[in-house]
Amino acid sequence: MVAWRLKINRLHVDLAGLRLANPTVLASGILGLSAESLSNIVMGGAGAVVTKSIGLKPRRGYENPTVVQTSCGLINAMGLPNSGIREFAKEIREAKSFGVPVIVSVFGFSAEEYGAVAKKAVDAGADAMELNVSCPHVEQTGSEIGQNPATLAEVVRKVKAAVEKPVFVKLSPNVTSIAEIAEVAANAGADAITAVNTIKAMAIDPETALPILSNKTGGLSGPAIKPVAVRCVYEIYERVKLPIIGCGGITNWRDAVEFLLAGARATQIGTAIAIEGPNVFKAITRGISSYLRRKGFGSVEEIVGLSHRS
Ligand code: DHB
Repeated sequence: MVAWRLKINRLHVDLAGLRLANPTVLASGILGLSAESLSNIVMGGAGAVVTKSIGLKPRRGYENPTVVQTSCGLINAMGLPNSGIREFAKEIREAKSFGVPVIVSVFGFSAEEYGAVAKKAVDAGADAMELNVSCPHVEQTGSEIGQNPATLAEVVRKVKAAVEKPVFVKLSPNVTSIAEIAEVAANAGADAITAVNTIKAMAIDPETALPILSNKTGGLSGPAIKPVAVRCVYEIYERVKLPIIGCGGITNWRDAVEFLLAGARATQIGTAIAIEGPNVFKAITRGISSYLRRKGFGSVEEIVGLSHRS
């Protein structure tokens, strides 16, 4: 009998064909510009990692200040700085040896560019793509694509045609109906939805009487956006039959469980790393595990979308 070998760990999740040892994933953004920073996150217990958003060509990004702390989260406007996919391919190859799925976040200024970057990322070994169609403040990319159904569909179709790996689409909460946008992505062939990216925000310094960020506006992340993100996941789950990865203000296991109950199969953690350090992944996984045990559930799967029962 090999039954014992088939025993499924209660924390394992299947994400559009990717096997994750636990449902915590590094969110794109704060870290993930180098394989070294990704390795710290894997050591901290992440079940998968998403890189920083990578484009076709190197980009310097905006001048400082690029981040401002508020009472309930961070606002950042970096301007999508990255080394370009050709240079970044080395980091992808190295990150492949860490033993968890490597998901490359991709942006572009046209559907063709998204497709070209995705193809190069997969050639370097990426296990999946996450399309950044939701950066709230860089012109002609990000949310300018994700807020326009026709452009979004074109981008998803181009990337699907370019690669044979799962394509996740990271959506913006800065829309009238995120469920409608998720449906557009699903119909265009997306394999999973990440919900959500940051909320467009700003901070003004009373002393200088000027906006603090050099770009004036940026994306708000952290605890402030969690209730918005949970609502987005809940609405998408009602409308679209694709796996959802919940993201937005997750700091502890209770936050993560809330997202799973809303309909997410996995959760992404970003801003909390700045406060808790990389071991936040282990802490959240341990918390989810004891919750499942205490409530008598055999797997993460059993609580995905549980709050929708009537
Ligand atoms: C940036 C990109 C994002 O997708 C986001 O949500 C916030 C900031 C940036 O690179 O500026």
